Amino acid sequence: MVTVRALRSKAGNEPITMLTAYDASTAHIVDDVGIDIILVGDSMGNTELGYESTLPVTVEEMQSRTGAVARATDDALVVADMPFLSFGVDEASSIEHCGRMLKEANADAVKLESGPHTVELTEQLVQLGIPVMAHLGLTPQRVKQLGYSRQGTDRDAAREILELAEAHADAGAFSLVLEHVPANVAKQVTEAIDIPTIGIGAGPDCDGQVLVVDDVIGMSDRVPPFATQFGDVKSEMEKAVGAYKEAVEDGEFPAKEHSHVEDDLDELY
Ligand code: KIV
Ligand code: NA
Repeated sequence: MVTVRALRSKAGNEPITMLTAYDASTAHIVDDVGIDIILVGDSMGNTELGYESTLPVTVEEMQSRTGAVARATDDALVVADMPFLSFGVDEASSIEHCGRMLKEANADAVKLESGPHTVELTEQLVQLGIPVMAHLGLTPQRVKQLGYSRQGTDRDAAREILELAEAHADAGAFSLVLEHVPANVAKQVTEAIDIPTIGIGAGPDCDGQVLVVDDVIGMSDRVPPFATQFGDVKSEMEKAVGAYKEAVEDGEFPAKEHSHVEDDLDELY
């Protein structure tokens, strides 16, 4: 069983592995392979729900998918990604929404796209017993302000990331995702804080790596430049679906062995 405490001792000794999953069948595979952390990312807005961005994802959608992933997972740490405006609007609703992920969906932790506004909230959640993963650099819930561009690319911006990383580590976050920042910035953040950093497009010097599962298995239309496709599930699915269609159209499916006949039921009239 991966716990937030176990992760800390793994960091710096062995790379931490993290991958998204949004459904039970995928989570089952990811967990069986031995990935440390399963993130039920709000990237599900793009990958699963057909939205243009993560902004429309709701607490209910996240809760439903987190429940499915948690039910299929025995060992990995399950982290629920908090959707746009489900936190940070006011204290009570932030805590309620985060709490539901543990209380009702059986997540092990929540992830918040972080900023100056989440330092105090992180501290409160941790005090209440809700482990928090922070997330700095490119935060896609700010797409209307930032687009999907690299972050921390000048000295001031890089220093701000470093300072916010320290503030969230001090607030009690158990881990930090660094997205699409220069590798040398991620390296310095990793050295500066004593919680594990998990990078995506942040170079090789983080304590762990995370990618979106669709990119890894080859289910995405477009793989971001910092990801690698390690398989081709999409073409396998196209082959299987095409073969099924052809077999039905050609009258080859179902065959005799797929059907059964009851004696004495030949003449119902
Ligand atoms: O939603 C997501 O998949 C994420 C990861 C890319 C870190 O936030
Ligand atoms: Na996310």
